[in-house]
Amino acid sequence: MIDEPVRIERRGRAALLIIDRPTRMNSLSRSTLSALAQAGQQFRGARELGAVVITGAGDKAFCAGADLKERQQMSIDEVRAQLSQYRTDLGWIGTSPVPVVAAVNGAALGGGLELALMCHLRVAAPHATFALPETSLGIIPGAGGTQRLPRLIGEARAAELILLGRRLGAAEAAAIGLVNRVAPSDVPVVEDVLTWIRPILEGAPLAQTAALRALRAAAELPLPRGIEFELECYETCLHSRDRLEALAALAAKRKPKFNGT
Ligand code: COA
Repeated sequence: MIDEPVRIERRGRAALLIIDRPTRMNSLSRSTLSALAQAGQQFRGARELGAVVITGAGDKAFCAGADLKERQQMSIDEVRAQLSQYRTDLGWIGTSPVPVVAAVNGAALGGGLELALMCHLRVAAPHATFALPETSLGIIPGAGGTQRLPRLIGEARAAELILLGRRLGAAEAAAIGLVNRVAPSDVPVVEDVLTWIRPILEGAPLAQTAALRALRAAAELPLPRGIEFELECYETCLHSRDRLEALAALAAKRKPKFNGT
């Protein structure tokens, strides 16, 4: 029924990765997860890529989580395999050398919110909604939600969202730090993201990658080791031409032109 569950569109140095299953609220079937993994592989080799923006087709849903119609037909082993698939097929987001941004264009529910949580940054359309309703379905979040949400918004708020399954609007999501920003109501969220991330797209690529590595370590390492690791990441920028270009541009009072070397 669904041939191409995801689409990629290039917009300058940004790639839009669009989950394109609007009749199923852009939910994650097994083939959608595989397609997202393939997109991740494509991005690894993409020249001049500065950021990936993940969004959903239409304006109703970013992603309504697991495809519950497909799930209904699945055996326990198949559900287990799909839970592993979340890790293997979406793991590239966490280790991406370029920032990955969720442009939340509608409902981000269950695995859809967990997908947004895997991203480095999140921007919501004003009508976007957020929830982890799994416990109301007799399960728990299985794509990292119980681990990433408390790290992002704190344990008490995460417990509230996970145990009550309460749905939040965009303003509340921004107020508690679940999203970085709410797009203005007269600008499509993807366009808002592309404007907002201009400093990334015009920035120094090696520094962006080094910053992402260091930030990732903050969630994994004890502080003293993290501070050491920060220096390792810094080292990768020290010998770059872009660092010298930034200093020269500052001295000449002009905009730097970075080339990723
Ligand atoms: N998987 C598969 N199909 C889904 C889906 C999902 N996760 N979520 C919605 N759909 C389907 C509906 O079954 C419906 O299909 P139909 O037209 O064949 O009946 C279609 O998408 C439209 O959904 P509908 O509920 O009529 O649209 P809505 O605009 O009123 O509400 C949502 C949209 C996303 C808010 C609502 O569908 C919803 O809450 N879905 C459940 C999501 C969920 O609980 N996910 C967590 C999984 S752990």
